Amino acid sequence: MSRLALGLESSCDETAAAVVSADGTVLSSLIASQIELHRPYGGVVPEAAARAHLEKLDLLVEAALTKAGVKLSDLSLVVSMAGPGLIGGLLVAVTYGRLLARAAALPWYGINHLEGHALTARLTDKVAFPYLLLLASGGHTQLLWVEGVGRYRRLGTTLDDAAGECFDKAAKLLGLGYPGGPALEKAASGGNSRRFDLPHPMLGRVGCDFSFSGLKTAVRHKAAGLATPLAAEDVRDLAAATQSAIAASLADRTRHALKLVPTTPTALVVAGGVAANQAIRTALSSIAASIGVPMVAPPLALCGDNAAMIAWAGLERLEAGIGPEDDGHSRPRWPLDPLAGKR
Ligand code: KG4
Ligand code: ZN
Repeated sequence: MSRLALGLESSCDETAAAVVSADGTVLSSLIASQIELHRPYGGVVPEAAARAHLEKLDLLVEAALTKAGVKLSDLSLVVSMAGPGLIGGLLVAVTYGRLLARAAALPWYGINHLEGHALTARLTDKVAFPYLLLLASGGHTQLLWVEGVGRYRRLGTTLDDAAGECFDKAAKLLGLGYPGGPALEKAASGGNSRRFDLPHPMLGRVGCDFSFSGLKTAVRHKAAGLATPLAAEDVRDLAAATQSAIAASLADRTRHALKLVPTTPTALVVAGGVAANQAIRTALSSIAASIGVPMVAPPLALCGDNAAMIAWAGLERLEAGIGPEDDGHSRPRWPLDPLAGKR
């Protein structure tokens, strides 16, 4: 039987545990979402998040092992995401994972959450290196050239807000609630994206960096110019215009990134929570088709935060003979490309 990894995730507002095998089978992937806990505040409350991770993680691990039909002694490694994220949360998966690994005499890997997102396409679609990755989540928006396990070159990043943050803030402004991305996408589906003229950030600029704070401000100004409370039609149309501006910006930057890469990628991959968005998937599909490569987006359950991607990243490192480097540190800030911004 191929190697089995237990993955643990607690970087933001999802506690997750999963068992994955080195042949790419997800035996179990359980997620306890804290959405209801944070909803009254309209965003993640770090202290409450950390406490909830602590309460849930061991129950989830037990359930993930049971669902996978394996015992601790069947595992080959334990993998915790060790950053970037909220420190109180990181400590939960790191401390728990390290102690569990030690008790079971297993190797422990502390891996980068972004590496989990970056390698998911290899778990789901066996994508070969090198590929171009658009990683878009609540905290990050980056274009990465993925050359191999542990070899990530950042081509562009956001100069201010992340794409997911823009979805979330615009949704809040429009009274669509939390989390904003899925709510805004739903509202946008009935809207007219041409009624409001919003800026398309960074369109045509050299390089492939992003910027979303101006768009957020423009949405606020448009909303302020309308009668309050906003009519349902206004909300739909503004949501559609916002989504279309974000999708256009992500697509334009991705097109520019393709000019910067050393060779044709095997695929155009999109990952992170924002990858769940259909308008964005459609825009990226047409870019991929234009260069004759597939567009790969993980299934919805593996787009947002989950522990299967963490377990898989640990397995990839093990198979590649990298690590474990057990310094036991949690890293609230942890760039995937250590040279980013220094070249
Ligand atoms: O990767 P993720 O689950 O967590 C982070 O690491 O941030 O991404 C969460 C982000 C949130 O900003 C959420 O609003 C956004 O992904 N998101 C979406 C959609 N589903 C989730 N944004 C746009 N459309 C969606 N369908
Ligand atoms: Zn994430």
